[in-house]
Amino acid sequence: MKQPNKIIVIGMGFVGLTLAIFLTSKKFNVIGVDTDQNKLNTLLQGSTPFYEPGLESALKSSLKKYLSFTNNLSSVDAADIVFVTVGTPPMRDGSIDLRYIKSSTKQISEWCNNNHIQPVIVYKSTILPGTFENVIKPILKSLSENTTVNPEFLREGSALQDTIHPHVIVIGGKEKPALSLKRFYQKIYEQKIPIKTTSATNAELIKYANNSFLAAKISFINTIANICQRFPDSNVDDVAEVIGLDPRIGNLFLKAGPGYGGSCFPKDVQALLSLTKNLGTGSDFLNAIHKTNKQQAEMVLKLITKQVKSLKNSNISILGLAFKENSDDIRESVSISLIEKLLTKKVNVRVHDPRAIDNAKSVFNNKVMYCTDVSDCLRSSDCAVLLTSWKQYLSLGKEFSKMRNPILIDTRRLLANKKLPVKYVGLGIGNEIVS
Ligand code: UGA
Repeated sequence: MKQPNKIIVIGMGFVGLTLAIFLTSKKFNVIGVDTDQNKLNTLLQGSTPFYEPGLESALKSSLKKYLSFTNNLSSVDAADIVFVTVGTPPMRDGSIDLRYIKSSTKQISEWCNNNHIQPVIVYKSTILPGTFENVIKPILKSLSENTTVNPEFLREGSALQDTIHPHVIVIGGKEKPALSLKRFYQKIYEQKIPIKTTSATNAELIKYANNSFLAAKISFINTIANICQRFPDSNVDDVAEVIGLDPRIGNLFLKAGPGYGGSCFPKDVQALLSLTKNLGTGSDFLNAIHKTNKQQAEMVLKLITKQVKSLKNSNISILGLAFKENSDDIRESVSISLIEKLLTKKVNVRVHDPRAIDNAKSVFNNKVMYCTDVSDCLRSSDCAVLLTSWKQYLSLGKEFSKMRNPILIDTRRLLANKKLPVKYVGLGIGNEIVS
């Protein structure tokens, strides 16, 4: 591949948009492709369809430079690299829906053949082992010789920073395109980043192994948290701190909480589990990660029912709707499933979140009360439940005195070390016996 100039990114979600903006900052001509014209209109106005720190201002400066958008790949004449970053959402049975992978691959194939071009094609979407061999290759035919699988490891909430500073780059596929892509990355990253070239199948599996292992760490520490809960002088953060000092374990992803959410861990663990079933083995281990996560959400409900004797007509305040801080994403957020359960028990639910209120409105309409101010959310409340580690919540204090029954269930232990005008229940801190 000659020094690339024009780059196409298909799919303007978290991964695609962040990548497109980053590559524009590196002075490539980037064309973002997405079938959703409304989304493109939003982007053309300089707004991102989701909240991601720093991304909107980066988009605005990218639009002044080399970034453009289209909903029609055939309107572009050629490109040196085509990145595929379309979604692979979950199906009901836990397997992944490949419809966007298939449709974009067909489009790329037709477009390349019509224009007699052979760009390097790069799959960044999360795809199960065997997808390149069995699904993508038969569509691309000879173009597959120039195709690589290049999984993405960025996190929501720090997507731009993770794209600027990746911890590793994995490139799977034939030697020729893999080498071209490796050289491309070596040029754009000034700092030295480990680049691993491997088979397409390994690259596909690395992504799932990575996410499932991280999910396993969370389910493990949540298991320990629930043990700590039963011993009055025990605190999961103290246990996590010390086991995290063992370099074989490491200190990251050992924060106990209400269970992992988001568009990745729940989907990826279940997809890998579903793959093992298709392979005829199944996996008790993957099943346990998933089940433990579900039980953790139940644990939060148990903590609430322990404190609020009669849920019917009680007022409960939910602090945090997003699945994690610095994001407005509520997909698979424990807060959402918890609110659904509380509503079935006729609880009056008030919710606060610095960013995710609009997304929650599309789920709950007028079934809950939305508060832009924490004090309003806590007013006359019988129990507050903190579910997302927003920085803003660290400074809470006197706001709790607005409650009718001042009880705080802090599933992230954000306020564990503060003196508060409230009965404090920290998930994983042994002061409340929950059976
Ligand atoms: C995750 C991975 O971390 C990324 O590397 C990967 O690229 C991404 O999935 C993906 O496959 O696209 P993400 O889901 O955006 O990223 O966010 P995380 O920071 O991993 O958090 C996931 C969930 O785990 C959140 O609900 C978070 O609150 C929870 N979590 C995380 C814990 O409960 N404890 C922890 O110690 C860490």
